[in-house]
Amino acid sequence: MRGRFLTFEGGDGAGKTTQIELLSQALTRAGQDPLVTREPGGTKLAEEIRHWVLHHASSIDAETEVLLMFAARSHHTREVIEPALASGRWVLCDRYTDASYAYQGGGRGLAHSLIASLEQIATGGLKPDLTILLDLGIDDGIRRTGGRGTHQDRFESEEAAFKERVRAAYHHIAETSSGRMVNLDASQAVDELYNQIKLLVNERFGVSID
Ligand code: TYD
Repeated sequence: MRGRFLTFEGGDGAGKTTQIELLSQALTRAGQDPLVTREPGGTKLAEEIRHWVLHHASSIDAETEVLLMFAARSHHTREVIEPALASGRWVLCDRYTDASYAYQGGGRGLAHSLIASLEQIATGGLKPDLTILLDLGIDDGIRRTGGRGTHQDRFESEEAAFKERVRAAYHHIAETSSGRMVNLDASQAVDELYNQIKLLVNERFGVSID
């Protein structure tokens, strides 16, 4: 049987890494062998692209940025995600195509149609079975990532208006995704949020994780 593909989205500082780790441990306890991965990244090539896009100081125009995101995604999808799903593994991915619609579409203002064309090329239309949006107010997100100081990446250091556009784009996707993306309040305590995720996964996929 084909594995399940779950992705996690949200603004910076929403706590995706922690929740992915908790879910991965629970799935492992339930006898699964989940693959945890991230975007941009997940292959050697895609991690190199990540480094350039997030941490290189030189300016990158919006078109180049979106092409780099999708080059990384194309490699990651073909080399890692599809083979894992085909072998029956659950894949838990920290961000996927929704992030391009939110950041490069909402944030940078690139056209939806452009991103949709790139999505088709890079993913062949692969959609997550479930996407969990960890939704957090911009001020809370800035407070939580503030500790990263001068090590902020290209997107963390963007102005508040950019982050508001990203958040609005995620809300729009959640509202129009026919239940594929579920919006959860990420300002809750870690264990409360995890309980909601656990219930959702149990309900959607008929597994029993604790
Ligand atoms: P993030 O997932 O927040 O990792 P960390 O928590 O380690 O900082 O960092 C990835 C950044 O890349 C995030 O700010 C969103 C951005 N991004 C895009 O702009 N477009 C994309 O398609 C993807 C996958 C990420």
